[in-house]
Amino acid sequence: MLTEKPKAAQEHPSPGVHGATTPTEGNVAYFEGGYVALADAKISVLTHSFMYGTAVFEGIRAYWNPEQGVLYGLKLREHMERIRRNAGMLLMDGLPPVDELVGIVVETIRRNGFHEDAYVRPCVYKSGQSIGVRLHNLPHDFLVVALPFGNYIDTDAGVRVMTSTWRRNADDALPARGKIVGGYVNMAFQKTEAELNGFDEALVLTADGHASEASAANLFVVRDGVLLTPPVTDDILEGVTRKAILELSDVLGIPYEIRSIDRSEIYVADEMFLCGTGVQLAPVTELDHRPIAGGAIGPVTRQLHEGYYAAVRGRDSRFAHWLTPIPSR
Ligand SMILES: Cc1ncc(COP(=O)(O)O)c(C=O)c1O
Repeated sequence: MLTEKPKAAQEHPSPGVHGATTPTEGNVAYFEGGYVALADAKISVLTHSFMYGTAVFEGIRAYWNPEQGVLYGLKLREHMERIRRNAGMLLMDGLPPVDELVGIVVETIRRNGFHEDAYVRPCVYKSGQSIGVRLHNLPHDFLVVALPFGNYIDTDAGVRVMTSTWRRNADDALPARGKIVGGYVNMAFQKTEAELNGFDEALVLTADGHASEASAANLFVVRDGVLLTPPVTDDILEGVTRKAILELSDVLGIPYEIRSIDRSEIYVADEMFLCGTGVQLAPVTELDHRPIAGGAIGPVTRQLHEGYYAAVRGRDSRFAHWLTPIPSR
């Protein structure tokens, strides 16, 4: 039996992670059909999704715009569409329609009364309390947790990446596109290997050796002015941010191509960056000890970086449709 509280240092986020915030007493969650104090949102240790990882989740950001005094939820509809589809993959049907799910997310954020950036985590999980690994004949439920949250990794100075020795789990084993809780142990192996070796992130390859994505972010490279990103058939999560970057590229007139990318093609690429709700848009300055873009941030990456941050914070009206203003409490 544990008699001592674990050392505080062991509870802290790893060195590459910034901005994760400890829940406060005022935090509110949506849990078992109602809004409750986050401290009261508790599941049993027998819960199926705790024992077997049988749940799907989303990570969503809300951005505070200080000039306007408005908090904007980013791409809420897209996230709720994805979680609904992914829940179906695990035989969790009969969820409320997307609009209703978006409404629950908005209300959860609103009740938290944030005046700063926030991170929102909806989850559809197998809520039954029975032993036995399976997907069928189990009840499920929907929860939403919201916390204040800053940068996941340093997005401005550029990140150092190593190719992971751990491959992405193939779609016919455990689909990355499902955003399945249990599947994230694969990502955890990759992230930890990278950080313990002194890097910020991992480049993860498919079983056949193509660049798939990072541990929890999609990837882009630039070659001869053309943006490249792997296709959805290369075992990636079909990222909401990836799609947003493609839309941004269209508006900014940056040509792009969706195709498989070799590991060594990145060594000779002009630029590389990662994107995702957590990392936002993170320029990569080094892969496997080889500098990318001369170890600096390349021009295409910089243009997209600036465009993305203006859009998500409600400073570019061309992308107002990405955002849902959250009413104040
Ligand atoms: C494995 C993985 N790939 C890519 C992404 C990026 O997806 P999104 O842009 O939808 O957050 C994530 C989530 O952050 C992820 O966990």
